Amino acid sequence: MSSASKLKFKNPRARHDFKGRTCSITGVGSYLPKRILTNAELEQMVNTSDEWIVSRTGIRERRIAGKHEHNSHMAAEAATRAMAHAGVTSAQIDLIIVATITPDMPFPATACLVQQIIGADQAAAFDLEAACSGFIYAMEIGQQFIMSRTCDTVLVIGSEKLSSIIDWTDRNTCVLFGDGAGAVVLQNRPASHGLLTAIMGADGSKAGLLSMPGGGSMHPATVESVSARLHHLRMDGKEVFKAAVTAMITAAREALGRCEIEASQLACIIPHQANRRIIDAVGTRLGIPEEKFFVNLEKYGNTSAASVAIALDEAVRSGRIKRGDLVMMLVFGAGLTWGAAIIEW
Ligand code: UT7
Repeated sequence: MSSASKLKFKNPRARHDFKGRTCSITGVGSYLPKRILTNAELEQMVNTSDEWIVSRTGIRERRIAGKHEHNSHMAAEAATRAMAHAGVTSAQIDLIIVATITPDMPFPATACLVQQIIGADQAAAFDLEAACSGFIYAMEIGQQFIMSRTCDTVLVIGSEKLSSIIDWTDRNTCVLFGDGAGAVVLQNRPASHGLLTAIMGADGSKAGLLSMPGGGSMHPATVESVSARLHHLRMDGKEVFKAAVTAMITAAREALGRCEIEASQLACIIPHQANRRIIDAVGTRLGIPEEKFFVNLEKYGNTSAASVAIALDEAVRSGRIKRGDLVMMLVFGAGLTWGAAIIEW
């Protein structure tokens, strides 16, 4: 698993390396529900067409969790697969972070439910909410626990049951999202490949562009809040689209600058899987050819915090990412939030 990095960094913020401690992704895993919802089925539900969805987004189908298939179940399955890949047991897990906007319930944390399912009874556990950017936020936080020697093994999971908050009468949003989970195991692996840098950003002035207003303490569930459809996801798609492109480009440039590498040195980019046109716009503006982007949104749609985690797992398992490759992950979501991470795989 571990061979020393060939990269040399002048910028101390480039490589997270503290007194010989580095943070590696030692295992990846994902889980997708079996039920496939196709564009043709959506044509029967709202006034839309396969042609519109594919041409405006690239999405052809998405997965939908069963009624009794909860977020914590999907998260635990992805985690179990990542632990098997890393060769670690649940007893070795020091911390579980679940990035999600669709927890099983407001509290306790879904991470605690996962801890119980996988039997990681030595682990601390909490949820993190940074919408579609949550997985990179969670990886960066997990890494900080490893660098500070608080933890040796951290399980980071992005898991969403977005089908539970979608307004299935709103064609503007219901065609875009899907359910699923992805996970990584982070471990200290001295002098090995690892997570080189992570950028996190936010702009709360644009919070209203993408939100679910109901269910918190501002708008608790009432008969009125339910009939006003406050408990569903709402989005100003056009504005989110523009902000996504700008933020992802800025985050990518900052991450590349920190690591003192050129975009041409990247072997693979794992972008948030929201819209093919967003990914194309980001690639064009950064001068990165289309084939360097790993895209699976045609199969799963936008799975929010799970999106890049599922894509990373598929890219590794399919051989698209190889040992030593430089990989950049790019995310964007409600908040607004955004992030970028560069990994020497
Ligand atoms: O993960 C968080 C980040 N979220 C995103 O990244 C989403 C970002 N936004 C987008 O991906 C795109 O803005 C959308 C896919 C949501 C929409 O694409 P667009 O090209 O921006 O379309 P639009 O919102 O400008 O809508 C164009 C037309 C409208 O009709 P009118 O007003 O021009 O008559 C919409 O009502 O398309 C209509 N429309 C649809 N038509 C058929 C919107 N949704 C649909 C639909 N089927 N499902």
